[in-house]
Amino acid sequence: MNTRKGKILLVGFGPGSAEHMTQRAREAIAEADTVIGYATYINLVRDLLDGKEVVRKGMTEEIDRCIEAWERARQGKTVALVSSGDIGVYGMAGPTYETLFAAGWEPGSDIEVEVIPGATALNAAASLIGAPLTHDFCAISLSDLLTPWPRIARRLDAAGRADFVVALYNPKSGRRTQQIVEAQRILLRYRKPDTPVAIVKSAYRQKQDIQLVTLKEMAECKIGMLTTVLIGNSQTYARHGLMITPRGYGNKYDTETGAVREGEQAGRSLRMGLENWKACARAWLREDPIRTPEEAARHFDAPLGEILSAIAESEGDGGAGAWSAARVQGARIDDLLEAAAQWGRLHARVASGTGAECRLTVDNPVFLLDGDRLRLEAPQFSLEIELPRLGQAWFLRRAETESAVHFLDAAGRKVFALSLAGKDKHWQQQAYVHAWQALTKPRAAGFTSLSNAPSEENALNGATQ
Ligand SMILES: C[S@@+](CC[C@H](N)C(=O)[O-])C[C@H]1O[C@@H](n2cnc3c(N)ncnc32)[C@H](O)[C@@H]1O
Repeated sequence: MNTRKGKILLVGFGPGSAEHMTQRAREAIAEADTVIGYATYINLVRDLLDGKEVVRKGMTEEIDRCIEAWERARQGKTVALVSSGDIGVYGMAGPTYETLFAAGWEPGSDIEVEVIPGATALNAAASLIGAPLTHDFCAISLSDLLTPWPRIARRLDAAGRADFVVALYNPKSGRRTQQIVEAQRILLRYRKPDTPVAIVKSAYRQKQDIQLVTLKEMAECKIGMLTTVLIGNSQTYARHGLMITPRGYGNKYDTETGAVREGEQAGRSLRMGLENWKACARAWLREDPIRTPEEAARHFDAPLGEILSAIAESEGDGGAGAWSAARVQGARIDDLLEAAAQWGRLHARVASGTGAECRLTVDNPVFLLDGDRLRLEAPQFSLEIELPRLGQAWFLRRAETESAVHFLDAAGRKVFALSLAGKDKHWQQQAYVHAWQALTKPRAAGFTSLSNAPSEENALNGATQ
C-alpha cells in the first residue's frame, strides 16, 4: 500500500514569460511528479517539464483536470495543476476545491493542497501601459459560458456607477462577439466617450500587442481570447501613450507647489473623509436655506438616509440650517404609519427610483397590511409598497415650513414620504410632534430647543406664523 502523502499544487505561473514567474511557482513545478494543464499553458512552461508525466487537457475539460489531479494525489503523487496568471483568478483553484469538497476532503486530511499565487492578467496588462490601476478597480469577466448575462450586466452597471477602473477578462472570442459591445453601451451610461481604454493582447508573450484607445472606439478594436481590456475611471487620463489613474494626491496637495490644500492636513483623513463629510453636508445645507436634503443627496452622491443622519447628528457646528431630523427607532414603522393616519391632510410623495416622483394629497391615510404589502387606498388612487423594502423611517422638518416623514429602503434610498398639508396646521403639528417625541429615541437631534426635540410649543409657534 502506498503510504506517501499526496499533494496538489495549484500553480499560477504569471502572464507567460519566464521572468515573471515566481520562484515558488518554479519550485512547485520542479517538485511535481505530474503536471496537468490546458495545452496552451503546458506549452508556456514546457522548459520545466523534463522527466515529468504531463497531462494536457482541452478548453472545456476543467473539471476533468480537477478529478485527474485528485485521483493522482490519492495515489500519493505530487500533482501540479498549472494555470496562467493567478490560478485563483478565473482559474482552476475554485473548481479544484469544489471537487475535493465533493469527494469529502478536508484541510489537514490525507492530501495536502497549496495555492501558489501569480501575477494576474490585469497586473501584467497594467504594467505595460503605465499606471491605470493606481486607484480602486474591479475585474469583470465577459464570459457568459457559466454566468448569466443579466448578472454580468448588473456588475458592469455597478462598476460604472461606482467609478471603478474596470478590467475586462474574456472580453471576446470567435462566438462571443457582442458582449464587448454591450459592455461598452453600459459603461457609456456613466463614462465619457473619450475615457482611456487599454487593450492588451498576450501580455509578456510572443504576440504581445497594446492599443491605447477610447471607450467610444473600444468595441471596434481588435480584441481576442487572449486580451485584457482596462477601462479608466472618471479621473484616468492618457499621456505620451500611457494611461494613468491618479492616486488622489491632488485632493490634498497642490500638485505644483506640494503645499497642503486649505482645510486639509497631511497624514489625516480628507475633510470629506469618513469622520467629517457629514459636517460638510450640514455646512452645504446651511449655506443656502433653499437647499433641500434631497438636493444634498444628489450633490454628495450619497443616499438620502446618510444626509438625514448627517442632519440628525448636528453637534455644536451650526447644524444644517433650518433642517432637523430624527430616525424612527427599531421596528416602529408600523407605529409611525398608524400615527400618520391621525395627521389629517397629507401630501404623499412616491419615488420611482428613476427620477420620476408622484405627488398626491390624501386625508388621514390608512395603510392596510396585505401579506408583505402595504396598501393605501384613496379616491382615484391606490399605492402598494413592498413592506420588506422599508428599512428605515425618518422625521424631517424645516423650521416652520415643512414637517414630513421619509420612508427609505435599507440602503437609505427614498421609497415614499408623507408631509403635513392640511389647513389646520396647529392641530396637525401637535400630533406630528407628539409622534416624533414618542417614536425617536434616545433623542431627536437637530432641534435647538433644550430637549433637542421639538417641543410642542415650538412646533405650535411655527405652525401659527
Ligand atoms: C480564463 S481567464 C484566466 C485568467 C488567469 N488565471 C489570470 O489570472 O490572468 C483568461 C483571460 O485572462 C486574460 N489573460 C490571460 N493571460 C493574458 C495575457 N498574457 N495577456 C492578456 N490577457 C490575458 C484574457 O482576458 C483571457 O481571456
